[in-house]
Amino acid sequence: CGIIGYCGPLDAQTVLLNGLTQLEYRGYDSAGIALFDENSKIHFIKKVGKVAALRKVCEEDPIVSHCGIGHTRWATHGGVTSENAHPHVAGKVTMIHNGIIENYHALTAKYHLEGKLHSQTDTEVAAATLNEIYNGDPFSSIHEFLRQLEGSYAFCIMFEDRPGEIYAVRNVSPLVAAYTASGAMIASDLTALLPYSKKYFVVPEGKIVQLTAYHASLYELDGTKVEPEILEASWNTDAAMKNGFPHFMMKEIHEQPEVLKKTILPRLTKGLPDLSDENIPDELLKRITNIRVIACGTAMHAGMVARALIEPRLRIPVTVSIASEFRYEEPLIDDSTLTIVISQSGETIDTLAALRLARECGSTVISVVNVKGSTIARESDYVIYTHGGPEIAVASTKAYTVQIAALYLLFCRMALVRGVYTEEHAEQFMSDLLNCASAMETMIRDENTINEIVTHIVNYPDVFFIGRGMDYAFSLEGALKLKEISYIHAEAYAAGELKHGTIALITDHVPVIAIATQKHIFAKTISNIREVKARGAYVVLLVTEDTAVDEGIADVIIRIPKEDDKFTVFPIAVVLQLIAYYASVQKGLDVDQPRNLAKSVTVE
Ligand code: G6P
Repeated sequence: CGIIGYCGPLDAQTVLLNGLTQLEYRGYDSAGIALFDENSKIHFIKKVGKVAALRKVCEEDPIVSHCGIGHTRWATHGGVTSENAHPHVAGKVTMIHNGIIENYHALTAKYHLEGKLHSQTDTEVAAATLNEIYNGDPFSSIHEFLRQLEGSYAFCIMFEDRPGEIYAVRNVSPLVAAYTASGAMIASDLTALLPYSKKYFVVPEGKIVQLTAYHASLYELDGTKVEPEILEASWNTDAAMKNGFPHFMMKEIHEQPEVLKKTILPRLTKGLPDLSDENIPDELLKRITNIRVIACGTAMHAGMVARALIEPRLRIPVTVSIASEFRYEEPLIDDSTLTIVISQSGETIDTLAALRLARECGSTVISVVNVKGSTIARESDYVIYTHGGPEIAVASTKAYTVQIAALYLLFCRMALVRGVYTEEHAEQFMSDLLNCASAMETMIRDENTINEIVTHIVNYPDVFFIGRGMDYAFSLEGALKLKEISYIHAEAYAAGELKHGTIALITDHVPVIAIATQKHIFAKTISNIREVKARGAYVVLLVTEDTAVDEGIADVIIRIPKEDDKFTVFPIAVVLQLIAYYASVQKGLDVDQPRNLAKSVTVE
């Protein structure tokens, strides 16, 4: 969900609606705002659907205001209805919330709220609880309120008798705040603050923020003022705009060559990988005997690619875990384990919880994160920031390829310090990695061809992706991308496994996207392609341009530039992203905001 709060000289309604539009990628089931009007009275407006629907209602009957809060929702507790949309109002308290209050049943009983609630949300229970506790002093009331809560939260609160003020607190769920001559602002996400300020602070857990007309002040729970640590964003507002592209996803696909270089170049010294700015000790990279990679979604798929690179070359076991599983599988890790946590947002709650567990078990954590100052970045022993800039489309593209680039860089440093690579090897590896930027550009230039190919598969209900080894890791991401934004049922299979069951689904014209870029297993993959072709599949084959392919094996061949096996992921990722993109466009769907998904999932 997305949160925004504003106090200042500008028109609050406009500021909040614009902020919510920026934040919409965090959730878009429903949206709402609450505003203090000129007479210090609170108004609230909530609407099911996208921010545009809320904007329409607001603009029909504008409220003059200089202080308010807004929310865009991704439903957890309670269905998508306007009652369940935020803000929630209880007596003197108006509140918006991200996260989950786990003990809401107990609070409902303790404060006798049964029958008094209008929604099915944990947030309304929280609002009613705070209203019961509220004694006229926001600080002591919030302090007591937090003592009653279990769960994760970022709250923005307005009290009826404190016009022109917003209070905010958080636990786990993110909040950042900023203030300039244009007013004070708080949001769940930096992108919403960027149009106002590049300077901001991350709201620390267990502290209270108070927003007034020009100031965002930070307090201990007892009301003692403390100075926030001001950070400066390296992203500019342009980065969060479409810049002439029809969708954010297309813009972000195009940015990949550039952000790959941005991520790698600052970490090269004389052509060799250098992680000294990250303070990652070579001694650590030398001593560890096994690696656990933990992430969710696309980031987990980046981890699968890293595993396929690292394990056979460094000869150390690498396990990739889905963060939500890792937490409950009683993992075997200790201080000989290096845990690599991957997260674009740095806020995914399952990933964060897994990170905490890994550290409790004595493992050292290196995280690969895109958002500076995010919770995962702050709680890791070491961070390698990807310099991808803000990723707005819900379907991840550039974040994936820069994560892989950062993991490749880490691998190369490890190979060097462990004596697997000589300096010449490592230099060659890094130079090949940088050259992947131009291989990606080549495939981006091929976008019209891919659009045309998609017309042959877009009308089928199922699409299968097959590949072996690294190609299998790429297939997983290709299938996920297609599912997410085109709603076509897509499955990725290790090519050799298909014949053990799933081949029963292959009949005439069923599209199979076969990836065969790994030379040592090329012949085996080709045999598997023959198996599906013999059953009538429509085969789209992805190979490097120097590969000889027998007549009749595929219906269409997409050739990527000649690359060493290790680096084919970059141009292949572009092809798979474009396939998903055009499938979504051709079906007339919402490319950037597919149904039911959210960019950053801060609930378990
Ligand atoms: C959500 C997004 C995915 C993303 C995953 C992990 O499900 O929709 O695109 O891969 O979360 O997010 P993270 O921010 O941790 O990389």
